[in-house]
Amino acid sequence: KRVAILISGGGSNMIRLVESMEGDHPARAVLVASNDASAAGLERAARLGVPTAAIDHRPFKGDRAAFEAELLKPILAAKPDILCLAGFMRVLTPAFVARFEGRMLNIHPSLLPLYPGLHTHQRALDAGDAEAGCTVHEVTAVLDTGPILGQARVAVEPEDTAETLAARVLGMEHRLYPAVLRRFAAGDRSPVWL
Ligand code: GRF
Repeated sequence: KRVAILISGGGSNMIRLVESMEGDHPARAVLVASNDASAAGLERAARLGVPTAAIDHRPFKGDRAAFEAELLKPILAAKPDILCLAGFMRVLTPAFVARFEGRMLNIHPSLLPLYPGLHTHQRALDAGDAEAGCTVHEVTAVLDTGPILGQARVAVEPEDTAETLAARVLGMEHRLYPAVLRRFAAGDRSPVWL
């Protein structure tokens, strides 16, 4: 299976995904693309030998469709079977999602359906939750709501800040996403619980 990964920043999840796809893994990374040419993850992907592309979203202002038309070019050229969003911070239109429905994954730093959207860790702290975590789900037209393919839970510690909790959750993201991708690439959509 051919996997394209979309990033916006450091790409720590992308790195774990790329590094996991070796040996008898049924998938290989064929592209890492970003909406930001300065994303540190692009250089890290290149160092791992993965072709990269950057389509700056800013010149397109609010015209999402025009930005996505450009973003699609390197993606379609890479002929991916699976699209992984990994720290990708742009909302995709239903038209873009429809092209990859059923084969596009995202990782979100909360225990969905809790806390879709942003600032998930602060919201969990404000709610006094005893647990937090991350979710890998299939991407559908409605943000952060597709079928859940995996979740990982962490304890919230009394002295946690949004930063300390984010770091703990990120460590679990790095374990969850590769586990889900391996299963998904093998055609198994049963969820991974960590
Ligand atoms: C992190 O906040 C992570 O929780 C979320 O995207 C952000 C950046 O991740 N999934 P990455 O290091 O670029 O993968």
